Order: sequence, then structure tokens, then C-alpha cells
Amino acid sequence: MIGPEEVFEETFGVPPTLLVRAPGRVNLIGEHIDYNDLPVFPMALQREVRIALRPREDGTIVLHSSGGIFPPIEFEIEPGIEPWEKGAWGNYVKAPANELAERFAIGRGFDGVLQSDIPVAAGLSSSSAIVNAVGLALAHINEVSTEPRELAAVMADAERFVGTRGGGMDQTISLGARDRCAARISFRPLRLRHVAVPDDWRFIVADSGEVAEKSGRLQAEYNRRRSECDEALRIMTGHLTAHDVTDTPLTSYPELCAALDVHRLMGIAEEALQGNLLRRFRHAVTEAARVEEAVDRMLGGDLRGFGALMDASHASLKSDYGVSSTALDELVAVAKEGGAAGARLTGAGFGGCVVALADRWTVGEVLETLAAAYYEPRYQADRLEERLFVAVPTRGASIRAI
Ligand code: GLA
Repeated sequence: MIGPEEVFEETFGVPPTLLVRAPGRVNLIGEHIDYNDLPVFPMALQREVRIALRPREDGTIVLHSSGGIFPPIEFEIEPGIEPWEKGAWGNYVKAPANELAERFAIGRGFDGVLQSDIPVAAGLSSSSAIVNAVGLALAHINEVSTEPRELAAVMADAERFVGTRGGGMDQTISLGARDRCAARISFRPLRLRHVAVPDDWRFIVADSGEVAEKSGRLQAEYNRRRSECDEALRIMTGHLTAHDVTDTPLTSYPELCAALDVHRLMGIAEEALQGNLLRRFRHAVTEAARVEEAVDRMLGGDLRGFGALMDASHASLKSDYGVSSTALDELVAVAKEGGAAGARLTGAGFGGCVVALADRWTVGEVLETLAAAYYEPRYQADRLEERLFVAVPTRGASIRAI
């Protein structure tokens, strides 16, 4: 495939001067808890968005996509940009432009050509990679700080422009990741702890082929879960204060989890909450505990232990959080049959991908089992390497002159 640089020259008749790249990510564990400010443990991977570009003197952004996968877009940078219709890809370009215009009054745009090999709407953050690549390009051109953590906080706010009330995991890992590492990300304040992925470990990504379009049905389901978590927290805070369990009111999930262990918290939650609120709360606090344990397992090279936590995460996402699907459950089961140490849905769910853990000796068997049992009956071998691959922990976004 020809690169975005060549397509740029064909399209605009001059060479580009900058190349920006931003990777997708696979979340290893800690799902649907970043928006509760609880820690998560993702890694960036080798699939990425690349934009070849040339700064303009005015405030226009003209962006084409290589291979015409998305229609070309053009708009002016200004505060309060109007989004296009729901689901339009260009909103992921308008999002960082709008945010940077509102915060830093930026005024310079660019001509660009975008290329991406991150599967779209598959739970690998193809959209945040676009937001980050455009955000990093605009920050660079307009001389705004491009320090990864600062930019990640701005980009996490920026992406809410599309209507999903996301947490900050995707933007942070895609900007801040290091080569060969996963990162434990904690919020308020935003911190990354880089953890080297053991050389022998292999994280397999398997795409169910069911699209999980963040700007579609998933958006309503996602936002509803966020509200349920907020409501569960509000009730728990009130309950704890009324029963004098703690001296000071605990008003955030991190405060709750720091003050009381999971067992104690769940004992109280069972009195205070019911139905979905109880289930959502149980997922949040048990998943947060699994993240901490998973970091320790990776540091200790304990593959089986890490895998068991992934299995428990999937079970919780399925039964308590209600974000799995038949296809995702099947992929998890097949990966386990093939010998994976653990497997779980990754990303927001409702379709998209699973991530499975194997080691260098068992990875071939897991891949073959998945190919034979899941992909061959559905897609023959068509585009297998796009749907099923081993994720390579990769460094975060970067920009360079070309
Ligand atoms: C989406 C959001 C993230 C996170 C995940 C679920 O990818 O963008 O912030 O909430 O879903 O873990």
C-alpha cells in the first residue's frame, strides 16, 4: 500500500512537511472503569493512524483519506465548531480542533492525508487515534504543549464532542505509551506507570467482526452505564455517611476503594443497592482490584495468574456489566480451548475484539484454534491477518518533519 506521503503529493501537488502517527490500543484489563477514575491497564499496539500534512497559513483544515476510506472533509478552526451529523468520521477531526481553539485560541490549520490500519469500531480505539493524531499535529503547528499527559487530558475532553462521555484511557495510552510496555493509568491526577511486558508473553487480538460503533447504539448503552455508576456512587456515599461508617464523606470511587476493601465495600453495597446499580458497582470495584493484582502478576511474570484475572474480568463484564455479546463469549471460549491463559472482551464491548493471553510456545496453537473454529466457518480465510493478530506493545504518538 502506498503511504500517506505519496497520496498527499498526488492530491495537493506539493510534498507534505510533517508526519504524525498515533497508535490504537488494546486494553489488557480494567474495562469500563476509567470514567469512574479507577485505574486501567492498556497497551498501545502496532496498528496506527498516520497523517502526512503541510501547515497552512489560515485556519482551514482539509483532510483526505488514503484509499478514499473516508470522504474528504474541510472546515474552519474556531471555538464552538458545529459537529456534522452523528456518526460522521470528520467529527473526530473537529473534536480536537474545537477543543484546542477553545482552550488555546489556535488559528493555523493544515492540508493532510490520513491513513489508518486500525480496524474501525472494533474496540481498539481507532477514533481516539484520529483525535490524538490531529490534536498532536495542531498542537505542534500552533506551538501548544505536546507533553503527552497534558495533551491526553485535553484530548479526553475533546472527544466528548462526539457525544460519548468516555473516560481518558484511550487518549492517554495512545499518546503516552512506551515501547515494549503496558501502562497502569490512574486519573485525577493523570499518571502512567510503565510496566514491561515479559518477552515471552503474547497478547492476541481477535476481532469478532461485529461492529461496535461508538457513535451509534453503543453510545446510549455506554452513557447509561456511566450514569448508573454515578448513581450507585451517590447512594453509597449517602449510605456510608448516614451509617457513620467513615468520618469524612467518600465521594469518589478511588476514595471508596482506598478506604474499604472489596469485601467490606460489597457487604455494604448489598444493603444499599439493588438490581443493575448493585451489579454495575460490583463490576467497578472488583475490576479495580483486578487491575492492581494484574500489574503485580505482570511484574512477577505470572502468566497464569494474569490470565485468571482476565477470565474473571470477562465474567464480570458479561454478567454484571452486560456489555458482552454471543460472538465475544464464543471467541473467549475458543481462545481458552486453544490453550490461552486467559481471555476477555476489550474496549467498550457490544461487539469488537477480545484479547487473549498466551506465551511464545502456545501462541501458535491459540491462533490456529481461533482461525479454524471462529474465522474459517464465517469468513473462510479472508483478511484473516486483519482480524486476528498478535499485538506488539508500541510507543505512543509522535510527529516528525519529513
Ligand atoms: C471506550 C472509552 C474508554 C473506556 C472504554 C471501556 O473505549 O473511550 O474511555 O471507557 O470504552 O473501558
